[in-house]
Amino acid sequence: MPAIVVVGAQFGDEGKGKIVDLLAEKADFVVRYNGGNNAGHTVVVKGKKYKFHLLPSGAIQGKTCCIGAGVALDPRVLKEELLQLGGKKILLMIDPRVQVIMPWHNFLDAVAEDVKGKEKIGTTGRGIGPCYADRADRSGIRFCEIVEEKRLRERVEAVFPLKEKILHAVYNSATDSLDKEKIIAEYSALGKEFAGFLQDVSAVASEALEKKNLVLFEGAQGTFLDNDFGTYPFVTSSHPIAGSIFTGVGLGLRKIERVIGVAKAYATRVGGGPFVTELHGALADKIREKGAEFGTTTGRPRRVGWLDLPMLRTAHRLNGFTEIALTKIDVLAGLDEVKVCIAYQNNGEKVKELPADMRCLGDCTPVYKKFGGFEISGKEKSFAQLPKEAKDYIAFIEKELGVPVGIVSVGAEREETIIR
Ligand code: IMP
Repeated sequence: MPAIVVVGAQFGDEGKGKIVDLLAEKADFVVRYNGGNNAGHTVVVKGKKYKFHLLPSGAIQGKTCCIGAGVALDPRVLKEELLQLGGKKILLMIDPRVQVIMPWHNFLDAVAEDVKGKEKIGTTGRGIGPCYADRADRSGIRFCEIVEEKRLRERVEAVFPLKEKILHAVYNSATDSLDKEKIIAEYSALGKEFAGFLQDVSAVASEALEKKNLVLFEGAQGTFLDNDFGTYPFVTSSHPIAGSIFTGVGLGLRKIERVIGVAKAYATRVGGGPFVTELHGALADKIREKGAEFGTTTGRPRRVGWLDLPMLRTAHRLNGFTEIALTKIDVLAGLDEVKVCIAYQNNGEKVKELPADMRCLGDCTPVYKKFGGFEISGKEKSFAQLPKEAKDYIAFIEKELGVPVGIVSVGAEREETIIR
């Protein structure tokens, strides 16, 4: 039962899209299990850039793409994304249980951030939090409920008055732009358009694994945006960690052959929240520009910092990595020196993993180890061809984590990858 999970080891934007695209060549199915169009997965093939928010990154390789029950799906975005593929046929399956992002979710996301003011999360504004909150509250609308107009109307009639009331009474917000009849018309047209994609992804993925097909599970966001194990409350509302494939797709517990933790050779974060190794000033600007660290979904500049090993150690504990895919090491090329945070200093104590209590994390300062600078051209085809300093850097990460670095990405293109 060859199951491979590709999971973000940091705060998202680690380059999972490229790794999934690479591995998808041999996969039979690529399955998304969490998040929604807050994600932005970039794949570059022969100079052409594809940006996926909802579709699994296996789409370009022509693989069967599945959207599992744990995903929050905005059908308006799915429509745009399919259009972007310019008529390229894709094999898509959407689980009937998938929660649908409705226009009031975007609205609620925006007003909640507004009211929080200085305490705002810095969400992507895609309605993700309110959509998952409705799932937990049992007032969500599922994908199977939008494919038939009568059913959709019943659900909207049941939920809409509640949303209007909350927006008026709690947020004192005008809801004129939310027109119930227009929403029903738009979503019922989208539902009809996508009805053919309805498939029980839990059953399909389980059967595929029984038949020993290769199933690739594509995580969105990253470990430290996990709703339980991330830097709460500065997290997303789903569970990006690897274990969430079982609940996000609907699989029985089973052995997973590979859990690939995708980690950038440095660190980035978009939105608010603690970031112990964050850099500011000219060096931060340089790395941001060179790494094109601007959100794929929102265009926001990403905060940048040095690689944080306490985070990666914790990510390994939470996900059980069998290997690391280290991305964007080329972005560090040309710097005089490269630093890695090996531990945190907290009130005179050395801490080697991320504390569970976020107040504690706020008091942590980084303890760094320095490495010499190096050059990388992107043409390196094997680990041996990397400069000594880069090899030392990678070997140090492996030793500290006790996990091999199996993939090293030296550029954005599919070919600019070293597989060891
Ligand atoms: P939300 O998921 O839109 O509610 O945003 C919650 C937090 O997660 C914010 O800090 C976002 O910037 C962050 N976030 C959500 N999705 C991604 C992603 O795909 N990459 C990086 N950060 C993300």
